[in-house]
Amino acid sequence: MRQSSLVVVANRLPVDDSVAPDGACEWRRSPGGLVSALHPILQHAPATWVGWAGGTDTAPALPDVDGVRMHTVALSEDDVRQHYEGFANATLWPLYHDAVEQPVYHRRWWESYQRVNQRFAEAAAEAAEPGAVVWVQDYHLQLVPGMLRALRPDLLIGFFLHVPFPPPELFMQLPRRAELLLGMLGADLVGFQRAQAAHNFAQLAAKVLQVPATDRRIAVEDRVVRIGAFPVSIDMAEMEQLAGRPDVVARAQQLRKDLGEPQHMILSVDRMDYTKGIEHRLKAYSELLADGHIKVRDTVLVQVVVPSRERVEQYQVLRDRVEREVGRVNGEFGRVGEPAIHYLNQPFDRAELAALYRAADVMMVTPLRDGMNLVAKEYVAARVDGDGALVLSEFAGAAAELTQAYLVNPHDLDGLKLTLMHALEAAPSDVRGRMASMREHLRTHDIQAWARSYVSALEQTGTLATRLTS
Ligand code: G6P
Repeated sequence: MRQSSLVVVANRLPVDDSVAPDGACEWRRSPGGLVSALHPILQHAPATWVGWAGGTDTAPALPDVDGVRMHTVALSEDDVRQHYEGFANATLWPLYHDAVEQPVYHRRWWESYQRVNQRFAEAAAEAAEPGAVVWVQDYHLQLVPGMLRALRPDLLIGFFLHVPFPPPELFMQLPRRAELLLGMLGADLVGFQRAQAAHNFAQLAAKVLQVPATDRRIAVEDRVVRIGAFPVSIDMAEMEQLAGRPDVVARAQQLRKDLGEPQHMILSVDRMDYTKGIEHRLKAYSELLADGHIKVRDTVLVQVVVPSRERVEQYQVLRDRVEREVGRVNGEFGRVGEPAIHYLNQPFDRAELAALYRAADVMMVTPLRDGMNLVAKEYVAARVDGDGALVLSEFAGAAAELTQAYLVNPHDLDGLKLTLMHALEAAPSDVRGRMASMREHLRTHDIQAWARSYVSALEQTGTLATRLTS
């Protein structure tokens, strides 16, 4: 087994399987995924990515992707049901997103979560050379840092949570709260999207584990764990390049034509998830139609919803509700050849997304709670023409950075309606001024900057530890 000086551990490998023209299975790098973003850092060292390839077959042996070794972890049908769909996506996901859906607690899901985390920790321990840096990602793998430290105390371990970390009142519901906190504290550096999340984590460590904790460091046994905010970002240059391609620009123009050359095009792009505020948005939109503030011929809404976690019950219920509402609104307000809402429930390729971003006058990103929301940042990156208005929920991590967006509380329907009208009717100079300052921010806060700042903070904890012990 070849070993690496840098190991990334994530639930998913950064590849998708697709069928080649000859019918064979082919593996391609997931578009826009973390791997392209981390490329400069992953290339720097012989790196390995440990993750699940999707599906329930025995772990396939995969070729290297952009020079990065793929180390697959197999999940059985039971693991997928209980670890991925169960504890990760029906317990932790809703709990961490303000319990907008009721989290479900099952003891057998917890057992599966532990088993799968142990398997990932063992795979990482195998792949890491002595003294390597191991960077563990997200809520599926919160026990991995602690398990890995027990196996390999020589490693420098980082953990980054891509989703929100909830306030104590919510986290305290978790039956196995102490174990989860201790698992994360196996890392040398625990990173969050927002400073508030680091604060919540410190408060919980003090309360549940009774250890000394500030918003920057937590003492556990004989170690000091650093904590902090590292807001994740996108590959700005890649999206700018894509959105500037002549075929993408032409496609954006064609989309406007296909939509009947409306005065205003509004766009939303979400995973089909109850955290995204899709129903609230549709309700606000249908009220604006009913009030006569918006007319179907002048204004169109394109709602893209990418299928997600389709076997989880809450996701199936959501899809039914969204589709019923789209049907109702179109039935009530549409005309022949002129639906009120253009609803697309399918995966989208990146060039088509970039064309949609470029075609839309107003982008509505209004989640009820979101760790970051990279769609908001992608829209800004795609607007190389300096145009386009972003309506953004205050409850998305991105709102802390994109302060020039038209910010809104998505629970406040009247506020949502007013803000959308405000964005639709804003003076071009206001729209362009806001877009310019958001683009300026992203230029210096792209994904490469994120990865560099996290890894250098992690390496610093190593230097400090060496200094303290030598
Ligand atoms: C969120 C999570 C990611 C996850 C993604 C897609 O952004 O933070 O870890 O990969 O959703 O969800 P899926 O369940 O398809 O991996």
